[in-house]
Amino acid sequence: QVADIGIVGLGVMGSSLALNIERHGYGVAAWERDPQLAETFAAGEARGKQIAIFKDPAQMVHALKRPRRILMMVKAGPPVDWTIEQFIPYLEGDDILIDGGNSHFEDTRRRAAALNARGLRYIGMGVSGGERGALFGPSLMPGGSRSAYDELRPILEDIAAKTDDGPCVAYIGPDGAGHFVKMVHNGIEYGVMQLIAEVYDIMRRALGLGAEELAQVFDRWNAGALQSFLLEITAKIFRVRDRETGQPLVDLVLDRAEQKGTGKWTTQTALDLGVPTPTIDAGVEARLISSLKEERVRAARLFEEAANEGRREINERERIAQDLHDALYASELCAYAQGMSLIRAASNEFDWGIDLSEVARIWKGGCIIRARLLDRVKNAYLRDKGLPNLLLDPEIARLIIPLQGAWRRAVSLAVNDGVPCLGLAASLAYFDSYRSERLPQNLTQAQRDLFGAHTYERADKPELGHIHTDWERAADQ
Ligand code: 6PG
Repeated sequence: QVADIGIVGLGVMGSSLALNIERHGYGVAAWERDPQLAETFAAGEARGKQIAIFKDPAQMVHALKRPRRILMMVKAGPPVDWTIEQFIPYLEGDDILIDGGNSHFEDTRRRAAALNARGLRYIGMGVSGGERGALFGPSLMPGGSRSAYDELRPILEDIAAKTDDGPCVAYIGPDGAGHFVKMVHNGIEYGVMQLIAEVYDIMRRALGLGAEELAQVFDRWNAGALQSFLLEITAKIFRVRDRETGQPLVDLVLDRAEQKGTGKWTTQTALDLGVPTPTIDAGVEARLISSLKEERVRAARLFEEAANEGRREINERERIAQDLHDALYASELCAYAQGMSLIRAASNEFDWGIDLSEVARIWKGGCIIRARLLDRVKNAYLRDKGLPNLLLDPEIARLIIPLQGAWRRAVSLAVNDGVPCLGLAASLAYFDSYRSERLPQNLTQAQRDLFGAHTYERADKPELGHIHTDWERAADQ
């Protein structure tokens, strides 16, 4: 009758979180559907620890303090609903169920409403940082019942990653807010990973850099303003060699990126909410194109004529690498700007009251997109809580202004050399569109009005409202 928390699902994330929670002095009760997995954990890492593993949900529930707290670490989708069903008969008013998987926020909204109707409390919590994060300090994005969060807060703050800004956890907002923020985290992750992949490709194909040189460039960048977990691991990857052939292992990895769906959800949701997220979309699209390997091989034969490729002079290579650094920085800021704007739009739509400076703060440590520039993102939203877009913050603008030349040169070089740069180009086009007082959508409106009488507004006479012109007849006159 003593365990502080129950954990369901002892896969990589569940077992790592169980160990992390136990290490901080809490008693853990656990249940895992697969007896083999449960046994391996019980006999291995959980041995001698305050982790009791039970044979069925009822037994686990009876070992928990009241109100019970149960953290589900199971695969997103139907397994979450199934797990909830297993526990419902044994739970009573005020008990807390927490979903720590990558659930779709709409599923979390539905589950929260259903459980709240039964008097139970529900938390949908984004957990980022992979296995190491879960074990030694993840970034946690809990949303749902506020009172449940307040009761869980000591455990969550203990197990979360720590930065100079405190533990990487904060109450995000009601129902699906936590899982929404985690989804956008992953969308940004897709965008930034794509941007890094592109600068790598440009350095490899247009500058002819090898693995060791690439490792050095990424290490150097990681020591400055671009410092981030994703750059750090990128440098590491270039240093790993295949034991058999001695070649850089990354060169032997099949160039077909897989995905579990959170990036796609971000893009889909952004379209639903009417928020432009081209850098994130590019990350999703680039993975889709990469998966067409056989077709790409055929197309490569057909369009063999390569543009400029190969090594450039040392001086030129250094200048280009600096341009790529600046292009990556500016493009990453666009990925964050888009993600933050998407969270803002959802927060308004669902009345979640999300504090964007807190979101940036809890992403500073533990998660996959942790990066030095998140400090600047946080400060921008601290200066102005209602900031509509990161690019409108004067400090962020001051950062981007001197990068523009390099950004354009980097994209031009990739285009000239025939190296694809979906993410860098989309980011630059996003920036250029966003900073344009006049866009060509006056023409789009005129076309719509001509072929479908969809009407348009006059820039010079707003008082007229929506009007229609017979463009064909006017053109004939
Ligand atoms: C994290 C990651 C994680 C995600 C993987 C794989 O924050 O720890 O975002 O949640 O599942 O990165 O995602 P894909 O398989 O879609 O690339």
